[in-house]
Amino acid sequence: MSRPTAPRAVTVYFSLEGNVRHLAQAVATAVDSPLVEVLPAEPRRGAEVTEYVWGDTRIICPEMPELLPLSLNPDDFDLIFLGSPVWKGTVAPAMRSFLAAGDFYRKKVALFCAYSGRAGGYFEQAEQLLLGCEIIDTIGFREPLRFSRQKSARDIAAWAKSVMAR
Ligand SMILES: Cc1cc2nc3c(=O)[nH]c(=O)nc-3n(C[C@H](O)[C@H](O)[C@H](O)COP(=O)(O)O)c2cc1C
Repeated sequence: MSRPTAPRAVTVYFSLEGNVRHLAQAVATAVDSPLVEVLPAEPRRGAEVTEYVWGDTRIICPEMPELLPLSLNPDDFDLIFLGSPVWKGTVAPAMRSFLAAGDFYRKKVALFCAYSGRAGGYFEQAEQLLLGCEIIDTIGFREPLRFSRQKSARDIAAWAKSVMAR
């Protein structure tokens, strides 16, 4: 009897302050996937610039910043683990640019995020940006570096393995 083959997975993330990077590294290690960081090319360049203020952090950047080139072909993968911080209740601008540039139609996507207050409507917003995909699961962590560095890494690793097994 032939065994079902594991999906070809990739972990893609954006992180400003390291929380989502911490989660993404745990996912990639757990499922042995490539780890791809989305990076804005020039944070302030763009037609319409928006100001994001959160606590002491003030960020001025376009709603959809240009990104540094990525060597990632979505067609090489069946399953994408996608991580972003929650910004203004939604997906951070760099991750929006990434989603707008790629063709994820019919891909399986597992979403993870980090937030400070609450994830709110983050996952619904992300799903709107990923229409045509199959969102297979979601998970969010409140400031994992501050509140649950080791537990969050363990929990998201277990989550990622369970997603792979579906
Ligand atoms: C510009 C900006 C906007 C943010 N907006 C929200 C928000 O709407 N809701 C929330 O719970 N956290 C918000 N946060 C907090 C981040 O989601 C949180 O600190 C997260 O852990 C950061 O992930 P990172 O370290 O990977 O960048 C915001 C942070 C920044 C910098």
